Amino acid sequence: MKSTPCAAIVGAGRTKFAEHWDEDPRSMIGKAGMTAFESVDKGIRRRDIDACYFGSFLYQVTNKIGLVPGYMSRELGMNVPMINTEAACASGGLALHNACIGLQSGNYDAVLVAGFEKMTDRQDKITDDLMFAADPHEFEAGYTFPGLYATMMTRYMYEYGNGDARCEEALAQIAVKNHHHCVRNPFAQFQEKGEITVDEVKQSKIVANPIRILHCSPVSDGASALILTRPEIAKQYTDTPVYILSSHEATDHVSLYTRDNITGVNATRIATAKALKAADLTIDDIDIAEVHDCFTIEEMFFLEDSGFYPKGEAWKHVYESCESFKGPSHIPYDKNGHELTVNLGGGLKADGHPVGATGVRQAYECFRQLRKEAGGNQIDRDVNIAMCHNVGGTGGVATVHLLARDLE
Ligand code: COA
Repeated sequence: MKSTPCAAIVGAGRTKFAEHWDEDPRSMIGKAGMTAFESVDKGIRRRDIDACYFGSFLYQVTNKIGLVPGYMSRELGMNVPMINTEAACASGGLALHNACIGLQSGNYDAVLVAGFEKMTDRQDKITDDLMFAADPHEFEAGYTFPGLYATMMTRYMYEYGNGDARCEEALAQIAVKNHHHCVRNPFAQFQEKGEITVDEVKQSKIVANPIRILHCSPVSDGASALILTRPEIAKQYTDTPVYILSSHEATDHVSLYTRDNITGVNATRIATAKALKAADLTIDDIDIAEVHDCFTIEEMFFLEDSGFYPKGEAWKHVYESCESFKGPSHIPYDKNGHELTVNLGGGLKADGHPVGATGVRQAYECFRQLRKEAGGNQIDRDVNIAMCHNVGGTGGVATVHLLARDLE
């Protein structure tokens, strides 16, 4: 493992992800930011923050917020740089990536990173609005995001499933597992819904064939925040920082129809390979991963794009893993005796997916897991290395962050 991390997380906070009809972005960011500040063990003052990074996708459309730096300056009472990133569903991951670059540059010692989205205000139009993250031709052809992912899922099942019913079953098992994980996460959108079964997924209403409602992440409101410092000074703020070993972003065509293949996400492949190399790790070193599962097929893609399973074979391993552990109580993706546990908080599927907040929420979850502070959904084995994987659109952007508690 690389011994010189690029940043350290010293505090983290979030709101519950839900339909927050009575909240506005300002109050949600305020709540997430305040809990992040309050979680810094030895305290941190607002004047210690040198810059703020914000990730959000649709604020101009959903909230009529344009000049985010000026808006945030007023809300936070600060005059530091307010850096604003937009990469659709990867906006949060990109804000975190840019924050790491800011700290590594030596320009800043401590920064705030926040992600937010208020989607329900446009409930009846949000499906159209999300298509800003796709190609205009795809929008004109009548596609929605569930439709785009349904195309990818159909192709995957055709090329690799070979008509085997277990392939469809494995895609349902991912939803079952992520709902199972969210049951002990008090911030998750679907905590109250409880466990779901494979049969319920397979019989739930069709959204865009073969994607059913229980394959989908929901429409959500929420915010999440992190306090990051240069690694050298992290212990001024807490005795147990979580280090960011590497931070990478990769891009690819925004459109499906110009890509070489649509049974995976090339940007994930590139970003994961670069992040692992930079941290001097392999995929088998990763203990837990917060993975972008906007639709269950995307989690399946990750398991192949990251190199954890060979191309086209993840569905067999997911199926066998679920069977061997007798259901969703714990699905470690077990390979060569190594376990990679995915989406302990419930993932986008069940924790919720307020688009810009998701990439920051993933780091929040890993921070809490690595510090053994995840409460009811704390993993039941000792883990030290975590991965956060955030995708924009159908794969136009991917960010990957590798986190560790102990550097040796
Ligand atoms: N998973 C599980 N349950 C869901 C759900 C989901 N994704 N979405 C909605 N529900 C539940 C609701 O809680 C509600 O339950 P209740 O009747 O017990 O209260 C019920 O289903 C109906 O909810 P409703 O909001 O009317 O559903 P909908 O049909 O309008 O929306 C989707 C469902 C799947 C179309 C919507 O959640 C969606 O568009 N998701 C994808 C979002 C997206 O594309 N994000 C970007 C990804 S790249």
